[in-house]
Amino acid sequence: MPKMNKDYLNNIICGDALTVLKSLPDDLIDVGVTSPPYNKGENKKGWLVANVKYIGASDKLPEDLYQQRQIEVLDEIYRITKPGGSFFYNHKIRWERGNLLHPIDWIRKTKWVLRQEIIWDRMIAANIRGWRFWQECKRIYWLYRPKGKQIIGEELKPKHALLTSIWRFPPEKGISHPAPFPLALPTRCIYSVMDDKKNGIILDPYCGSGTTLVAAKILGYDFIGIDISQDYCQFAKKRIENFKDEEKFVQEELAKHVVTKTFAERKEKGEFTGKYGKNNNINIENQSILKLFE
Ligand SMILES: C[S@@+](CC[C@H](N)C(=O)[O-])C[C@H]1O[C@@H](n2cnc3c(N)ncnc32)[C@H](O)[C@@H]1O
Repeated sequence: MPKMNKDYLNNIICGDALTVLKSLPDDLIDVGVTSPPYNKGENKKGWLVANVKYIGASDKLPEDLYQQRQIEVLDEIYRITKPGGSFFYNHKIRWERGNLLHPIDWIRKTKWVLRQEIIWDRMIAANIRGWRFWQECKRIYWLYRPKGKQIIGEELKPKHALLTSIWRFPPEKGISHPAPFPLALPTRCIYSVMDDKKNGIILDPYCGSGTTLVAAKILGYDFIGIDISQDYCQFAKKRIENFKDEEKFVQEELAKHVVTKTFAERKEKGEFTGKYGKNNNINIENQSILKLFE
């Protein structure tokens, strides 16, 4: 496919993610966030939720083909991401005839450095059969494109890092799409790594109702969205036009990124600082580490 002019910026391209990604130039994106179709097989619904069916795309592929496509998509995203850029890949643990399918199985076959596995606690299970403990969590994989030989990347500011590796957001309800994630989720991903950077381009290659793009718009960044469904692309465009209606949800998330007292300030005042403080007889195992930042 020929390389496009810059019409893709602040736009939603309706098409197959892999095909569209191949048309985008190298080293373009600062941060991406996405939730791809999970290959859940459409017939299988949970006891508590309806089965997810997308308009315009099947979510039912042979599992090996599904994983191979995901690897190709992730490697294309790697190519178009700037060195030092990040991609947040939301997926879940699934079972196929009793066998556990873990996203790390195929993520490790991509070019990305797997920087962190974040648990998204949705506080509700879709299926309450007792074959297993009720599964309330999804995962968010923070993937990193190294800059030169540096594979660790820049340190997060404490105000972002203290949000920990377990994120508690209930599922999104008020959006007409079968599987949107809440606006707080892409907001947290983008803000944590972009922090106060002024310019940037944010990607969501399976943008659905446009949640990631709305977060990017409100945070002041350019965005590129891709989705195979005309209906969802239209819906997402309208949603972005009305982004002001959702600003308060982004502000609510940003308000959580705050350090009221740093470790150094606490240490200076002789307050509890774990093994470095005067009160170091407190059993740190029993203390929420968040107390260091209270
Ligand atoms: C889990 S949903 C994403 C929802 C989105 N995060 C939101 O908040 O609305 C997955 C999306 O992938 C889209 N999709 C499925 N197959 C696709 C493909 N081959 N290329 C691009 N998009 C596709 C579906 O139309 C659906 O909107």
